[in-house]
Amino acid sequence: MSRNISLLAGKKKGSLLTEIVKHNLPESDKELASRYNLGASTIPGTRSFYDFLKDDQPEAYVCTGTACLCKGGQEEVKQTLLKHFSKVGEMKCLGRCYNNRAFHLRPQLPEKSLNNEGSAEQGVFSKLNVNSNLTSIGMNYSGDDIDQLDKILTGQSQPDEYTAKSYASCSFLIENELMPSIKEFSESVEQLLKSDSKNLLSALLSSGLRGRGGAGFPTAIKWQGCADQNKSQKYVICNADEGDPGAYSDRYLMEQQPLKLIFGMLLCAHIIGSDTGFIYIRGEYPESVSMIKQIIKQLQNENLLGSGILGSAFNFELQVVVGQGAYICGEETALIASIEGRRAEVDVRPPFPTVEGLYKKPTVVNNVETLVAAAAIFKGDAIDYKNIGNGRSTGTKLICLDGLFNNPGLYEVDMSESLTRIIDDIGGGFTKPIKAVQVGGPLGGVVPVEILKDLTLDYEGFSDAGFLLGHASFVCIPEDFSSLEYARHLFEFVADESCGKCFPCRIGSVRGAEMLVNSQYDAELLNDLLDTLEQGSLCALGGGLPLAINNLLQYFPDEFATTTSIISVTKVDQGGGS
Ligand SMILES: Cc1cc2nc3c(=O)[nH]c(=O)nc-3n(C[C@H](O)[C@H](O)[C@H](O)COP(=O)(O)O)c2cc1C
Ligand code: SF4
Repeated sequence: MSRNISLLAGKKKGSLLTEIVKHNLPESDKELASRYNLGASTIPGTRSFYDFLKDDQPEAYVCTGTACLCKGGQEEVKQTLLKHFSKVGEMKCLGRCYNNRAFHLRPQLPEKSLNNEGSAEQGVFSKLNVNSNLTSIGMNYSGDDIDQLDKILTGQSQPDEYTAKSYASCSFLIENELMPSIKEFSESVEQLLKSDSKNLLSALLSSGLRGRGGAGFPTAIKWQGCADQNKSQKYVICNADEGDPGAYSDRYLMEQQPLKLIFGMLLCAHIIGSDTGFIYIRGEYPESVSMIKQIIKQLQNENLLGSGILGSAFNFELQVVVGQGAYICGEETALIASIEGRRAEVDVRPPFPTVEGLYKKPTVVNNVETLVAAAAIFKGDAIDYKNIGNGRSTGTKLICLDGLFNNPGLYEVDMSESLTRIIDDIGGGFTKPIKAVQVGGPLGGVVPVEILKDLTLDYEGFSDAGFLLGHASFVCIPEDFSSLEYARHLFEFVADESCGKCFPCRIGSVRGAEMLVNSQYDAELLNDLLDTLEQGSLCALGGGLPLAINNLLQYFPDEFATTTSIISVTKVDQGGGS
């Protein structure tokens, strides 16, 4: 069934999800389904999956991501928003983890605004005097912005300021000089068009670049796998669904280094033989959506995207697809389903996307940082890149430090950098006593500070110690923040974001959150649940959750005082997203 939807949706150019978002009115469902030759239930089925496509969306949202939760103060932000908005929703996370107190304002979609003509809510946004591209998809705020809400609502926009600095021995990701202007982009494209794909691929292989989206898969091997497929249609997808609370490096790259990102996609397309690409950007990042759309338009006008690039036979059409509030869309098969307009459920692999991906055609899916690094390697030197790191984890890495560091912000460091240097010298230590740091998002480990300081920043250093580097986001857990509450927060996160395909995750995440409502839970039952999640989940959302929970149980057992014979289960709500 889902295969049929993929094949039918693939007969039209573009993304069915984008069409569903544009026609966000139940009345147009039948018409849209028949245009795609799909059954009438397909469109409502898809729409019901996504938080942002549900009816009666609030116009204000408070960030409930892990970094904002640990920093505290979100209830105050919510109460301030409630003075202006009748309803305040929740979003996790807005990528403002460096100064917290994050919130998001978005107007109703145009169709709905028409229905609500004259409503007080519509009036609030009609006053916003900001970029009209942004008002249609929302705006993010953080730090002291909430104290200026009156000014924001009367049209005074606030700058988003944060530190982005390179401490790497050679900067590949932050410094601008590798490709700062459209002119230099154009020169790089000319250089690319003259280059032999095989040579480009072997340079990438010798750089040792591994995917930065979490799994660390060698990029050149992925591209080779797709290049080897003898198919006329192939796709390049940039995974810009950066949903891990604590991570904001992809957002930085999209907003500050968009040309490098797009060049990375062109490089991949040239090597694998693709003429079509998609950048899937989460809807919680309106500024990124706006920047990338703007740059694509500019590059199309300069004949640097589209048909016959710079008069050559190379074509590359690039489109943005905006995510609709589902964390699982970061998982590559769910992301593909989402672009196709299916419910974003994870698919069984194999076949891997390089063999059968978007619309069942060979597809490369890469993270934003991976593509930017590939572009920088093309412009720089693959051997210089390889010489940084420990030989297996090579090059440089962006790390995101949250608002509980004295120097919060985004930093580029060498792979294999010492964590003591990162925490004490670069991060400047903590603003208050911290007992542990969760590295690599909700599916990463919770590492006690004293253990963390002995590690090095590379895939091997983390996995040998039983943790995960992931996307290298650092979320601090204060000493006075209960480990039980933190564990419950993680279960609730997975319960909210589960795609619902397999029962250990769909049901187990809800049962785990219920169990940890207080410390009167059955420890044996919890262990069984964690084992079931780890062994029985189809993807790393359910399968990865036990790592952090087990770390909390192992390192902070006193905070889980339990009576094993008592099973005290209180019902908790299972949120949206699935
Ligand atoms: C639950 C889940 C969420 C994920 N979220 C992201 C994400 O937000 N961004 C990302 O690049 N990869 C994410 N991934 C990994 C992707 O599935 C995929 O491995 C990655 O995009 C491949 O790109 P890379 O080779 O450049 O790392 C996620 C995986 C899982 C299981
Ligand atoms: S583990 Fe969770 S998110 Fe992953 S496939 Fe199963 S239900 Fe979906």
